[in-house]
Amino acid sequence: MSFRLQPAPPARPNRCQLFGPGSRPAIFAKMAASAADVINLDLEDAVAPDDKATARAHIIAATHEIDWGAKLLSVRINGLDTPWWYRDVVDLLEQAGPRLDQIMIPKVGCAADIYAVDALVSAIEAAKGRKKRISFEVIIESAAGIVNVNEIAAASPRLQAMSLGAADFAASMGMATTGIGGTQEDYYMLHEGARHWSDPWHWAQAAIVAACRTHGVLPVDGPFGDFSDDEGFRAQARRSATLGMVGKWAIHPRQVALANEVFTPSEAAVTEAREILAAMDAAKTRGEGATVYKGRLVDIASIKQAEVIVRQAEMIAG
Ligand code: COA
Ligand code: MG
Repeated sequence: MSFRLQPAPPARPNRCQLFGPGSRPAIFAKMAASAADVINLDLEDAVAPDDKATARAHIIAATHEIDWGAKLLSVRINGLDTPWWYRDVVDLLEQAGPRLDQIMIPKVGCAADIYAVDALVSAIEAAKGRKKRISFEVIIESAAGIVNVNEIAAASPRLQAMSLGAADFAASMGMATTGIGGTQEDYYMLHEGARHWSDPWHWAQAAIVAACRTHGVLPVDGPFGDFSDDEGFRAQARRSATLGMVGKWAIHPRQVALANEVFTPSEAAVTEAREILAAMDAAKTRGEGATVYKGRLVDIASIKQAEVIVRQAEMIAG
């Protein structure tokens, strides 16, 4: 093991990020009243090119006028391959109220993408005397993004969260699907004539989790497009949670409760984790590093696993 300690990610709940187009201000108050931990007002792909300027103005007004409570307020800017992103950053940093917490940078391909936005944000913060340092979140949604995921996770101390964007990722990779996340019909193995569906998102998610955990960033699962399929959402979210992700996007309000349910450790899981910690405490007083809990081995690594669950539950409760 490296002598370097793994940095802790930001200690804030990020179970659900609720998205809404910046061009649809009528839903902003509903978003603010939702149970999502994070609000993402969008300037990017949910906003048509002709609406970019008015969406910007709506979002800036909303940072002043709407009570966002304790939610983390993030705005998704346009990608660095567009003519809009610099104006997004300049107008937001110059005109948004102090309630703005975070900027989401989509389609990040390398660490220099974040450097560019960081330089612009840093200059405007200094020029305007903004007191709150804006944090960043990024979307990994291209072949370059996943290839460079480690340097991206290390790119800026502003970086707090990283999401997998399934739709753009699939397009960039040339994947044969138009689905946004979830099970893919043709991605199956055959065993004795029976189909077994595997998870085409797994490797990208695992790469994102590893890069995030190395650098103290929150790994997040992105959108699940079919918002009429609650069980499909739950299944995708449970796989993400099992892999180490802390939350998932909601692209419709009905997905908020589903994400909160999956990414809040259950009472049973927390009870079991506490029992494991108690069993290991008792083992320690006996001078043992390993013991048996419900018929299975628990040892010093089990303490760390149990602590992940207990810490997450306490952080959410707090
Ligand atoms: N946040 C909060 N409330 C929302 C909402 C959202 N993202 N989307 C819809 N609502 C509200 C509607 O206003 C409606 O409220 P009402 O009951 O008071 O009338 C209610 O939720 C039900 O909405 P519904 O009719 O089912 O959906 P819709 O047709 O109005 O909108 C979408 C569906 C998918 C277009 C819309 O949810 C949306 O724009 N989602 C976000 C898309 C996005 O930002 N994508 C970028 C990231 S991938
Ligand atoms: Mg995208």
